[in-house]
Amino acid sequence: MAFGSGMAAIDSIFRLLKPGDHVLVSDSVYGGTYRIGKMVLENFGLTFDFIDTTRLRAIRAAMRKNTRMLFIETPTNPTMAITDLKTFATPYIQRPIDYGIDIVVHSLTKFLNGHSDMLGGMVVTNDAAVAERLRFFQKAVGAILGPFDAWLCLRGVKTLAVRMERHGRSALEVATWLTKQPKIKNVYYPGLPRHPQYSLAKRQMKNFGGMISFDLGSLDAAKRFLNRVSLCALAESLGGVESLISHPATMTHASIPSAERQKMGVTEGLVRISVGLEDSEDIIADLQRALG
Ligand SMILES: Cc1ncc(COP(=O)(O)O)c(C=O)c1O
Repeated sequence: MAFGSGMAAIDSIFRLLKPGDHVLVSDSVYGGTYRIGKMVLENFGLTFDFIDTTRLRAIRAAMRKNTRMLFIETPTNPTMAITDLKTFATPYIQRPIDYGIDIVVHSLTKFLNGHSDMLGGMVVTNDAAVAERLRFFQKAVGAILGPFDAWLCLRGVKTLAVRMERHGRSALEVATWLTKQPKIKNVYYPGLPRHPQYSLAKRQMKNFGGMISFDLGSLDAAKRFLNRVSLCALAESLGGVESLISHPATMTHASIPSAERQKMGVTEGLVRISVGLEDSEDIIADLQRALG
């Protein structure tokens, strides 16, 4: 089922629940998912806990009698933590449905459309009863995808396979280069052997995707860097043809209380890049110039 945005799709999934129900969510999720849970739906009698879903023990420990949903984001945005689906990526890279996941949600706004020119969301399920409820919400709530956006995304998806191959290849080159820069404290990319879930990512993902985060150590260092990039566009969203760079603490995750952000690993120095389809040498040259 298609929706007007990824958030509209996520909102519709949470409508499957009732007041009194409890939801477990991956801790370093997209800021909007934290916001809709904590700042909207907790007013309607749902409760949300954010936990490290890369650790099965943590999930078991956090389960309650009234836990009705486990909401997993993998890789997480922006710290790239990978949850074992057996236990972020488009269906070209990973297919949670094949792992027995009940409901899969995508933001079409990102790599699926891939041209930063539409907003949309997608929910996929094999469960007929869930599908019927979601179709009812689509109509009753009206969070639907517009015809022009639908057409743009249909066109964008035609090049998904070749774009994801290129995004993945370039991102691995950029991430490897970033690990060699002394000014960079840490690089988060599932394709790096140093990544804590590297072997899981190799098993679970066709390639490692186009998203990288790296820590410059402080807010000042991040600001200096972001004010110097030119080829990479300083902008929200991700998954476009153009490389997009952002500062999660003041952008995508700004609505999360700073103590919570710290716990999630969204530090003041963290920068996130969506590696575009430009030549990887040009992207690296731009980052090098910005690092000064
Ligand atoms: C992981 C994740 N989930 C959901 C969303 C929300 O998608 P949309 O912007 O299409 O509402 C985003 C947006 O950045 C995201 O990164």
